[in-house]
Amino acid sequence: MGKLDGKVAIVTGAARGHSEAVARLFAAEGAAVSICDVVPVEVMENGVASKIREAGGRVICSQTDVSDEDQVNALIEKTLAEFGTIDILANVVGIAGPTKDVWDMTLAEWKQTLDVNLDSIFLCSKAVLPTMVEKRYGKIINFSSATGKQPLTHRTPYATSKMGVIGFTRTLAADVGQHNINVNAICPGEHEARSMELAQGRAEYLGKSFNEEEFRTNFEYRRNSDKSILAGRWRAEEGYVDQSSGSEETALLALFLASEDSASMTGQDINTSGGVMW
Ligand SMILES: NC(=O)c1ccc[n+]([C@@H]2O[C@H](COP(=O)([O-])OP(=O)(O)OC[C@H]3O[C@@H](n4cnc5c(N)ncnc54)[C@H](O)[C@@H]3O)[C@@H](O)[C@H]2O)c1
Repeated sequence: MGKLDGKVAIVTGAARGHSEAVARLFAAEGAAVSICDVVPVEVMENGVASKIREAGGRVICSQTDVSDEDQVNALIEKTLAEFGTIDILANVVGIAGPTKDVWDMTLAEWKQTLDVNLDSIFLCSKAVLPTMVEKRYGKIINFSSATGKQPLTHRTPYATSKMGVIGFTRTLAADVGQHNINVNAICPGEHEARSMELAQGRAEYLGKSFNEEEFRTNFEYRRNSDKSILAGRWRAEEGYVDQSSGSEETALLALFLASEDSASMTGQDINTSGGVMW
């Protein structure tokens, strides 16, 4: 028996990354999943959807830009037509946005990050809430970030959008608690590949050279010695934690928040950041 038997979940941005892991775990735990991404449906069908079906799960795929209201509404209508209801919404989509100082940034660059990272959460929540309110049941899980809780230089749109996700989560949780709907946020921490991408972008922006080897050494050093990275210290000394911000671990937290196990949790933002405390 799965933790999400009989439930219907929408998972955004599911072609890869954290979202793919969430979609696969929700399906493995019995939910019928409606996944979407900006990539063509065939990419999802040949990738994540075929893995879900091979494992015996139910899935439908839509090509949806979640920052576009009409496309979001079409996704919700298709999900309701196919599966009859919606119990869970995992708002996972997020883009990194520009690495630039504010005075070098265009309004279009600023807006694009907020559109994809924040408007999408508003639009998807707005579209599923009438169904959830009517059935007096719902779980909404928003992906924020450890970034924003602490500064990440030259990345104001991303940090702003992710702190916006936390504000939205807390306030929506207060608004819909009376309808038996829980709203929580997950804040993944950095992982090496993503951090390297960002460090490369920062070096490019500042006109500095980038040395991959040096980055890896510094990343390891920060991970293992910084007093704020508690689990990193444990990892170095005792090997208790072997990975920070892995998609599987993040998906397990999403499952907890999507299931009855977290019935009394709402309005929270929880770090999966290898012990980083912000
Ligand atoms: N990976 C990390 O290190 C990290 C750290 C902190 C927070 N996060 C957050 O976790 C979430 C997932 O991150 P990830 O690294 O797995 O992402 P990713 O970049 O691997 O995947 C994002 C997916 O979203 C899709 N997408 C992008 N724009 C879209 C749009 N407008 N509509 C629909 N789909 C769209 C992409 O095609 C892609 O498949 C994001 O919200 C991200 O900000 C990630």
